[in-house]
Amino acid sequence: MKRGKFVTFEGCEGAGKSRQIQFVKELFAARGVDFILTREPGGPAISEKIRAFVLDVNNAEMTAECEALLYAAARAQHVKQLILPALESGKTVLCDRYIDSSLAYQGYARGLGMDYIRAINAAAAEALPDVTLFLDLPPAAAFARKGGADRGDRLEVSGMDFHEKVYAGYLEVCARFPERVVRIDCSGTKEETRAKIAAALQERGIC
Ligand code: TYD
Repeated sequence: MKRGKFVTFEGCEGAGKSRQIQFVKELFAARGVDFILTREPGGPAISEKIRAFVLDVNNAEMTAECEALLYAAARAQHVKQLILPALESGKTVLCDRYIDSSLAYQGYARGLGMDYIRAINAAAAEALPDVTLFLDLPPAAAFARKGGADRGDRLEVSGMDFHEKVYAGYLEVCARFPERVVRIDCSGTKEETRAKIAAALQERGIC
């Protein structure tokens, strides 16, 4: 059985990631790609429970290390229980956020460092994405687009400085992994963004 392809989506809050993932889902369905769609933090029930805990606004005193380890724990379960078995059965796996979120948010923006994040995410090394689409929209543009409204979970209420740091973290991720990470400029219309995504997936032989 040929191993399936692993595609991850990354981006700052408000970059239009959910909408574009919906588009890729429809594209795959239309082209007959055998795939699963999953997300991080989350996926299997255990990882979804960790998600609820890590995003809970009542956990305001959570340390950066605790946060990073919880994301890594959710990911370890996700990789072993869902992602690897799906890839091994030949399915394409689409994942909304993955290790690069930890590198940008916890490694860079929270200041834990990229090496620390890689060390605690050894499970992710067993399932490295074939391609990562970084939906590039700087936070100021994203917030202007959605009228400044926050949905209000624990990471989203962190303020503009934090989101600017996350964005800088993603640019660092793009610079470190140029073969894997494709930067998709999302400053145009959603149709323009779609066309760029479809072209990137085609170029990489995903669909
Ligand atoms: P979610 O509501 O899924 O955000 P979005 O719609 O922007 O993807 O919440 C996930 C939040 O968790 C988001 O703020 C990014 C953050 N996150 C990390 O900080 N580290 C990680 O490793 C992952 C996977 C997510």
